[in-house]
Amino acid sequence: EEPQSFYDAVGGEETFRRLVHRFYQGVVDDPLLLPLYPEEDLAGAEDRLSLFLIQYWGGPGTYSQQRGHPRLRMRHNPFVIGGAERDAWLKHMHDAVLSLELPAELEKRLWDYMVYAAHSMVNAPEA
Ligand code: HEM
Repeated sequence: EEPQSFYDAVGGEETFRRLVHRFYQGVVDDPLLLPLYPEEDLAGAEDRLSLFLIQYWGGPGTYSQQRGHPRLRMRHNPFVIGGAERDAWLKHMHDAVLSLELPAELEKRLWDYMVYAAHSMVNAPEA
């Protein structure tokens, strides 16, 4: 019997869609982060982050079917991401993670990953 994936344990696609939608509700009002987004409409970015997280946590591999290998650090190279951008990203993601009201253990796993991933995306020295 396959152990249940984290993806299934948190509620599958619907949960990740809710997480990322909530996250972008923060970004759209953020004067530091919003200008980084190349497209006027955040719907495409919302879809890409949702599909990436779905794939990462054990759900369908639609992200790589559409986008190829994630190579996330490389894909973020066009955007200057310093400590301030990282912390703003994490603030909105923290709100979003808490809004899911997951069991504590699952919430901690998801949040610890976000902290690690956001730190690894920094590509500009601290001011
Ligand atoms: C794309 C900013 C961290 C996952 C983007 C884009 C921006 C951005 C501006 C382009 C939007 C678009 O897709 O059109 C940032 C900033 C971060 C950050 C400021 C602060 C640390 C992260 C982290 C993850 C992530 C931690 C993963 C957990 C993605 C993905 C895409 C993306 C999957 C779409 C890549 C593609 O397929 O083109 N990000 N990001 N980002 N970001 Fe981030």
